[in-house]
Amino acid sequence: MIIQDIEKILKTAIQKSCYENEELFVSFSALPKICDFQFNGCFLIAKRYKSKPNDIAINIVKNIEKDEFFIFNVCPPGYINISLTNKAYDYYANLFLKDDRLGINKKEKSEKVLLDYGGANIAKALHVGHLRSPIIGESLKRLYKFMGDEVISDVHLGDWGLQMGLTELQLFEDGVLNYYFTGEGEEPKLTLEMLNDAYPKASLRKNIDINFKNKADEWTLKIQEKKEPYFTIYEKIKKVSVEKIKRHYKELGAEFDLWLGESDCYNYIPIVLDIIKNKGLSKENDGTVTVDVAIEGENIPIPKKEPDEQQRYKNPMPPAILKKYNGGVLYATTDIATIYMRNKMYDNLDRIEYIVDLRQSLHFTQVFRVCKMSEISPINQKLIHIGYGTMNGKDGKPFKTRSGESIKLEDIIDLLINKAKDKLKANGVTYDNDLALKIGVGAMKFGDLSNNVSKDYVFDIEKFMSFEGKTGPYIQYTVCRINSILEKVINSQQKIKIFSQEEKEIMKAIFKLQQAYEQSYKEKTLNSLCLATYDLASAFSTFYNIHKIVTEENEEKKQSLISLIVLVKKQLIQALNILAIEIPEKM
Ligand code: ARG
Repeated sequence: MIIQDIEKILKTAIQKSCYENEELFVSFSALPKICDFQFNGCFLIAKRYKSKPNDIAINIVKNIEKDEFFIFNVCPPGYINISLTNKAYDYYANLFLKDDRLGINKKEKSEKVLLDYGGANIAKALHVGHLRSPIIGESLKRLYKFMGDEVISDVHLGDWGLQMGLTELQLFEDGVLNYYFTGEGEEPKLTLEMLNDAYPKASLRKNIDINFKNKADEWTLKIQEKKEPYFTIYEKIKKVSVEKIKRHYKELGAEFDLWLGESDCYNYIPIVLDIIKNKGLSKENDGTVTVDVAIEGENIPIPKKEPDEQQRYKNPMPPAILKKYNGGVLYATTDIATIYMRNKMYDNLDRIEYIVDLRQSLHFTQVFRVCKMSEISPINQKLIHIGYGTMNGKDGKPFKTRSGESIKLEDIIDLLINKAKDKLKANGVTYDNDLALKIGVGAMKFGDLSNNVSKDYVFDIEKFMSFEGKTGPYIQYTVCRINSILEKVINSQQKIKIFSQEEKEIMKAIFKLQQAYEQSYKEKTLNSLCLATYDLASAFSTFYNIHKIVTEENEEKKQSLISLIVLVKKQLIQALNILAIEIPEKM
């Protein structure tokens, strides 16, 4: 907001100086001791007009009328430095305090977005690989909405693949499913434990026993063709799984508008296969249906098998496979049919975005290309894969148990809760499970979101859970601290007058936080928002270490300080709300 105000003044002055300049970039100062903001555009203008940047800067500043909020100075060799007057601090502080949106503008144009995140697979236990999608997706959803987009979230369960056939076949061989095939005995009660036992066993077997794998393929096809009793059993397995998945997502604070899955696009699969065929895009070979999506001359990196491997081979993009030899459909097929279905369900979707592991980027490139080539996705619709990096252990390798298995999501959540309990105990705070969950999950989320989405990061619970430093608990704690100050005073006058440098620093941190919303929106990663939120919390702490509020004798000053910390609190709560981090009552 403030940057736009400065840009407006500069724009008028630039026009008055008879320069054209469409790209107007005012940024925060790189030298905050010297000025608050800076404009570097004179170098660009100078190039265009074959003149000296410093002369351009002098000309522009000459054409700026004296302003009560901003002071513009030329700084050789051609920068324009901008500083705020005291009046400006007061003006913006009061403006933000009274504004419902705390001074953060919506985007000019609202877009309709379908966000695909979560992506848990039924029959398989959720593991650490499923942690980042709901965390990132939930925050992006909240950010997009806040910035003015209309967002529909879909969990897109993995419920139509080989894992169903594998699990059923294993359960059958373990003798659990006899009732459904013979009608004898009692109907078994399928439990989560049974599934958690069956799937990993079957998954190992399929790699060493080709007969088992082929049979599982057959069973999967029978389920996909809705043959009985395979389909009924599948639905029971799904119900048990989904109950558990819902519980996990609730603990993680992820909420979905749609609880659809791969299976829901079932009716659209023949339709999309027809569309693709009629456009002459697909090839059929012994029942296998593929679409060539390679672009001439294009080379794609093949991921390294071993981290130490030196070479990355280059190859053309492999074709998308839409149907297997036995008629079964694949991951790409359901994703294509789902895009078709989504466009049937909603008019004018501007974007469909997928928050899915970066390692699936080849899959999404193939799917998106097929949808664009066949016009299943309208020309103007953006299909975007927001690929996230891997969560590693301290050894820099994907986070695993000691015996090398993937860590279950359940165990991670327990770990976080227990660690939070230890912390609370050490701080002498009485707690319950709910409080520990808020802090534990908050720590995890902040630890995750403060990294660029596409980067790998290390799961370091000690660091995430620290009550000091760039952590979730530190920011939660700051809000609790402000709350406890506010309990001791009455805020009778909502008016801010900035007195000290520390208060100015708080305001500057708020300006930066406001800009971080836009930056995070543009970059589709929340690290700048996390960092700016931390900086505001930290500016508050510095301020509060020096200034007293409760015992301040000058009533006008006291009221102003109270109003200022109310503003800080509102800003922190707003940011935590976007990050989907809950605020504990005490810490
Ligand atoms: N179930 C998938 C997996 O576990 C993730 C689904 C992501 N969404 C999608 N539309 N493909 O890998």
